[in-house]
Amino acid sequence: MNNEISDFRSDTVTNPSSAMREAMCQAIVGDDDYGDDLTVKALEEKIAYLFDKPSALFLPSGTQSNLIALLTHCQRGEEVITGKEYHIFAWEGGGASTLGGIIVNPLMTDETGGINLEELTLSIKRGSNHEPTTKLLSLENTFCGIVQPMEKLKDLTQIARLNNLSTHLDGARLANAVVKTGISFKTYGKLFDTISLCLSKGLGAPVGSVLVGGPDFIERARRIRKQLGGGMRQSGILAAAGLYAVEHNLQRLSKDHENAYNLAEQLSKNTHFEVPLNIIDTNIVYADIGPEKAKEMHSHLSNNYVRVNFPEKIIIDGEIRSRFRFVVHLDIDDEDIIKLINICNNF
Ligand SMILES: Cc1ncc(COP(=O)(O)O)c(C=O)c1O
Repeated sequence: MNNEISDFRSDTVTNPSSAMREAMCQAIVGDDDYGDDLTVKALEEKIAYLFDKPSALFLPSGTQSNLIALLTHCQRGEEVITGKEYHIFAWEGGGASTLGGIIVNPLMTDETGGINLEELTLSIKRGSNHEPTTKLLSLENTFCGIVQPMEKLKDLTQIARLNNLSTHLDGARLANAVVKTGISFKTYGKLFDTISLCLSKGLGAPVGSVLVGGPDFIERARRIRKQLGGGMRQSGILAAAGLYAVEHNLQRLSKDHENAYNLAEQLSKNTHFEVPLNIIDTNIVYADIGPEKAKEMHSHLSNNYVRVNFPEKIIIDGEIRSRFRFVVHLDIDDEDIIKLINICNNF
């Protein structure tokens, strides 16, 4: 067995390849806060074109991109409706409420990340003085690696539009959904007013997200980026990595999806695990184990050079289970997958 670490914690752990580093070295740069960085401009234009949107803004992280989207769409006291398990509500430190006085209204999400259409309709406030004003619907795709069905996204965004809400998509891993379904970035671009795409997840760049939208929206977002201290200077070095990622690492995501499904199928044969194969859509594999075995399995993996986050407790059919999450990415190859399967089989 090889003693190199196989890191399944997240697709954010990838190291830039030599070719990506070379592209960063060669980047033409300037002071982007003065609008002088041609590589940043090239990246923004490329991503705007991909989505068929007029404008785009390069940002340091997915969290900042979502935060700026919310701060640009909503004023203090206005409400965004989102999912209880979505990153914006669950994992971004409550930034929109803390910094923008935005009320976040989290609706229940089912196991696949879906929001109920009727619940959305009933949750939209109608403008009484007693209530916050609902301004925005914010969805997520992929949700925990699960592709959200296009028909459902159409129905949800149509309800939003009919009620004069704006729409935002946290597309941190939208590239995985695009490659998995063949549905283009442009199609998603038509559905949502604004979309945030991460370059530093499956696409393998070290840093960066891009927010796309209309020209006025992006100009206001640019001002808020400055207020948050997110204006960057010779950031073309980072944008070059993003350009390289989109040009070279997009189609190869299908290999991650193939590896992930193979891993899921093999783990489902292991008697210690139950694997919800129905929710393994792209690059994230879940494997549930009895909570009493979770610590031991985690140590077993770690002792055998496999890094994985400690499993979260979840309730399935009224029973507490521990859910391991194995994330497949560009630094995980066939050998890493076989190694992980063998290690689990030797538990
Ligand atoms: C769905 C989703 N949105 C947003 C983010 C935030 O991205 P970042 O870590 O770049 O802030 C993540 C990070 O994992 C994510 O999974």
